[in-house]
Amino acid sequence: MLDLMVVEDYEALSQKGADMVASYIVRHPTAALLVATGNTPMGLYSKLAALRTQNGLDTSDLRVFQLDEYLGIGGEDDRSLYGWMAKSFLAPLGIADGQVVRLPGDADDPQSACRAYDEQVRAASSIDLAILGLGPNGHLGFNEPPADPTCTTRVVALSEESIESNSVYWGSRARVPREALTAGMDTILNAKATILVVSGRQKREVLRRTLQGPVTPQLPASYLQRAHLTVIADRDAWGEE
Ligand code: GLP
Repeated sequence: MLDLMVVEDYEALSQKGADMVASYIVRHPTAALLVATGNTPMGLYSKLAALRTQNGLDTSDLRVFQLDEYLGIGGEDDRSLYGWMAKSFLAPLGIADGQVVRLPGDADDPQSACRAYDEQVRAASSIDLAILGLGPNGHLGFNEPPADPTCTTRVVALSEESIESNSVYWGSRARVPREALTAGMDTILNAKATILVVSGRQKREVLRRTLQGPVTPQLPASYLQRAHLTVIADRDAWGEE
């Protein structure tokens, strides 16, 4: 079930996304949210925080699941995706540590940390709302191609494309870790609702293939065609009809 919303620009995408997430939280104050970092949802998160300030959105009973993390990186490292989520989402929305299920990049035993994460997803029964960005190579979280719907939360090697695309966050390829922990495809695809935010001309081709191409492990995001999916894309990402 696909709901595609094409809006004018990044500003409108961020506002539309924030309005949708805010109204979801009002209706589901105890929801389990799966929250991406990456550049695309940052505008959504800051507008969501503004809505909370204006309207007093209650976030105190939400649970928040981290989508991905670099292997070997602790929360204090400036490249930590947890740190990025903490600054952009948790702190502005007043979400306490106890409400968060982390993917600890610096765990002694990362594989068992991934299993513990999946246990927590099961304890929540599933994710209620996933807020996702789209990897330039069609990855979700760090489920690099090929990845099918049975992939569980695990440690993965990053592809060359992802090392390249992530280098814009940290200034150089050399600073991008080569492995990561990612929420599994099974966790992501079993979310009761998903909002995918996509912005910019450089995502146009991969977005078209995601929504209109064959469903294939070679493009993990294509499995979202089978999900309860809302896509918010700006005109640059979708193009003209
Ligand atoms: C990154 C992350 C994803 C993110 C995606 C898109 O590599 N692993 O979680 O959603 O790629 O990022 P951006 O929004 O910066 O384009």
